[in-house]
Amino acid sequence: MTFSQTTRRYLVSCQLNRLWRREIPLLVIGSGVAGLRAAIEAAEEVDVLVVTKGKVHQSNTRWAQGGIATVLDQEDSLEAHVADTRQVGAGLVDLSVARKVVAGGPSALEDLLGWGANFDAEEEGLALTREGGHSFRRVIHSGGDATGLEVQRTLVEKARQSPRIHILEDVFVIDLVTDMEGGCCGALVWERPGRTSWIQSRTTILAAGGAGRMYRETTNPEEATGDGQAMAWRAGVTMADLEFVQFHPTTLYVPGSQRKLITEAVRGEGAYLRDRNGERFLVPVHPDAELAPRDVVSRAILSSMAECGDTHVRLDIRHLDVDQVLNRFPGLARIAEDFRFDLTREMVPVRPSAHYFIGGIRTDLQCRSDVPGLYGCGEVTASGLHGGNRLGSNSLLEGLVLGKEAGAIARKDLRVRKAIPPREMKGEEIRGGSGPHLDLMDLRNSLESLLDRRVGVFRDRLGLEEARERIGAWSRYVHSQVFQNPEGWEMQNLLTLAGLVVEQAIAREESRGVHHREDFPNRDDERFGRRLFVRREA
Ligand code: FUM
Repeated sequence: MTFSQTTRRYLVSCQLNRLWRREIPLLVIGSGVAGLRAAIEAAEEVDVLVVTKGKVHQSNTRWAQGGIATVLDQEDSLEAHVADTRQVGAGLVDLSVARKVVAGGPSALEDLLGWGANFDAEEEGLALTREGGHSFRRVIHSGGDATGLEVQRTLVEKARQSPRIHILEDVFVIDLVTDMEGGCCGALVWERPGRTSWIQSRTTILAAGGAGRMYRETTNPEEATGDGQAMAWRAGVTMADLEFVQFHPTTLYVPGSQRKLITEAVRGEGAYLRDRNGERFLVPVHPDAELAPRDVVSRAILSSMAECGDTHVRLDIRHLDVDQVLNRFPGLARIAEDFRFDLTREMVPVRPSAHYFIGGIRTDLQCRSDVPGLYGCGEVTASGLHGGNRLGSNSLLEGLVLGKEAGAIARKDLRVRKAIPPREMKGEEIRGGSGPHLDLMDLRNSLESLLDRRVGVFRDRLGLEEARERIGAWSRYVHSQVFQNPEGWEMQNLLTLAGLVVEQAIAREESRGVHHREDFPNRDDERFGRRLFVRREA
């Protein structure tokens, strides 16, 4: 079996012969919507182990507010949903993936309803809302703005009912394990101090979520440190679209508070964005004003902030029926209560923050990566659905549809994947690893600020090159250390992924979707009308 250099150092330092071994046919890494949906599907026939960094109910999914985009309205159509996905995706959406995901929406919803999920309803059926970039009202939601929580609750309950699904919580996947032929044969998992296991599996589904924690301003929870993307890179998986990081335009900006997302659906219901002078600055920018695609709204907000010398803009619902809006959006009502806003008179301070990591491991239509035995679904992947910009509420949909697909295919491929004989790892040649004591929090703060400043909504070569240089310098001493704990491995993963994002952002010398280069402000289809792939040299 083979591991990355850093992991081999770790293994040598903690003595290879003390490595535990567990066997399972199918391993799922991550317990968000995609991972759990995959596990549920695979467990129709085989035993599945789900490993997760925190508790099984903690993931990016839980925080998703807007909803699930799916075609239910009589006037809407699958073609229209695919067309909106492509339009927002700025020329890079893989049409076959978009068709598959959109077509899978209604049955994904049926599954959830069958397992007891509750969505908000009106007299005529499920309530539908509209978000930016959608040409119809097609976003179903739950608890007003708590859709992710309901999806997660439903999937966790369903998974817990299955005798074939085993869940290992509070563990950290250090690395994927590959065999001598380059296929994936499980993962190296730290369970607690003194206990690290090789979980040996014939097929492995990576569904480890996003990487928003690279940035200081982010809607993502603490777990989103890009571990899945970084371990896939080390294992030699081809990665795609890494330059595309989506910023959510309206994140609560109150000193001392968590950066809570305020769902786009609030603007879908008629809220305005105003600058310091009270102007609706989006009106002259885009015909859809506040409901323009997210990249347009985020850029307009930052430009307005710069023009007015302000730290935020303002979300205004004063002209609406405030009680009705707060009733529809309990999350917003809680914010108003917590921070003592009277929304009949006052506006909520908001600004953009990193929200969704579009890039990741390249997967095909069956969710296979190019490492045999390794599959992917959800935010850790770049399936091609989102192209250069994600249409709001397409990600829970993707997690449900492609999670199910990944589970089915990884289960089916078990028949052809042979069991890998355990093999002693040769670690003697690995040396070194000691270094200075590092203040990891300080390093994290520096990385997050650097990415906010240089690899954010607006980018240019000078800023990106500064980021490259600093990340390179920090990586030299961080990657040569042997860490014995998740904080150290997370730091290494964040640096690995940040370095890749910067390289791909430098390479794409144009502006498209969420990637905006001030030194190349136009879209250049001739040079860049294609996705960028990258793979680690052996
Ligand atoms: O604005 C939102 O509710 C976010 C939805 C999404 O990220 O898809």
